[in-house]
Amino acid sequence: MPYAYLQLTKSDRVATLTINRPDKLNSLSDDVIGELEAAIMEVRSATDIGGLIVTGAGRAFVAGADIAELSGQSVTEGRARAQRGQHVFSLFESSPKPVIAAVNGFALGGGCELALACHIRIAGEAAQFGQPETKLGITPGYGGTQRLPRVVGRARALELLLTGDRIDAAEAYRIGLVNRVVPGDKLMSECEALLRKMLANGPIAVALCIDAVNRGVNMPLKDGLALEAGYFGILSGTADMREGMSAFLEKRGANFRGK
Ligand code: COA
Repeated sequence: MPYAYLQLTKSDRVATLTINRPDKLNSLSDDVIGELEAAIMEVRSATDIGGLIVTGAGRAFVAGADIAELSGQSVTEGRARAQRGQHVFSLFESSPKPVIAAVNGFALGGGCELALACHIRIAGEAAQFGQPETKLGITPGYGGTQRLPRVVGRARALELLLTGDRIDAAEAYRIGLVNRVVPGDKLMSECEALLRKMLANGPIAVALCIDAVNRGVNMPLKDGLALEAGYFGILSGTADMREGMSAFLEKRGANFRGK
């Protein structure tokens, strides 16, 4: 499907989604949010795509929601805009196919929130992160107050939220906001290599790990463990489990079919 503000490319089961509005630092207008929803649904349903890398064109990953659009919003419109963005970002988080954020530059406000909704974050050395919304007199609206403390802990999240300060890639790594930092010119190849490792594994197992972690973090431990036991049981009935274990015992690579 053609997009005005996104590029979606596919290469041997790896999809790359590039947010492409560089003159506005890839800020998320309502139109971009609408296209992100269509694109993640396209990725989720495409049988020839196993996983997704999300990145930004130019010097930004995403510099936030489009402030020009937010500036005139009413109370009702503000709530509705937040709910819509949260819904779209949750589609990235709940994707059964792994989603990696390749953070090439500014990941501010909604950009940091989009990265947080991805399963893994890899930063290029030029990446900068922040939740500057309080500088604009608002809270984050696309999940920042909820996902950021779950990733970096409450105190560090509150420092970022209450100051609005930007942090560089090294600091983002130090506080656990990103999985790793790589040279900018290696960002896409490192993300692809990481994604391809995941795509070599059993796809049902990968999908259920994502789901168990997503659901489990919001559950009491005993409920999360029950969920895990259920998924372990489901996997035990799959051809993929038999293939994975046979391959190990026969000292060969596994050839999973997602069945
Ligand atoms: N919404 C709308 N437009 C944005 C934007 C946003 N979140 N972020 C950047 N832009 C636009 C700028 O208005 C400018 O447009 P113009 O050339 O038509 O004037 C263009 O993108 C380039 O940005 P500019 O501010 O000139 O670049 P810079 O290098 O001086 O600063 C940032 C870069 C990221 C520090 C700065 O753009 C910024 O602070 N952006 C807002 C970040 C933010 O508060 N996000 C949360 C929003 S809720």
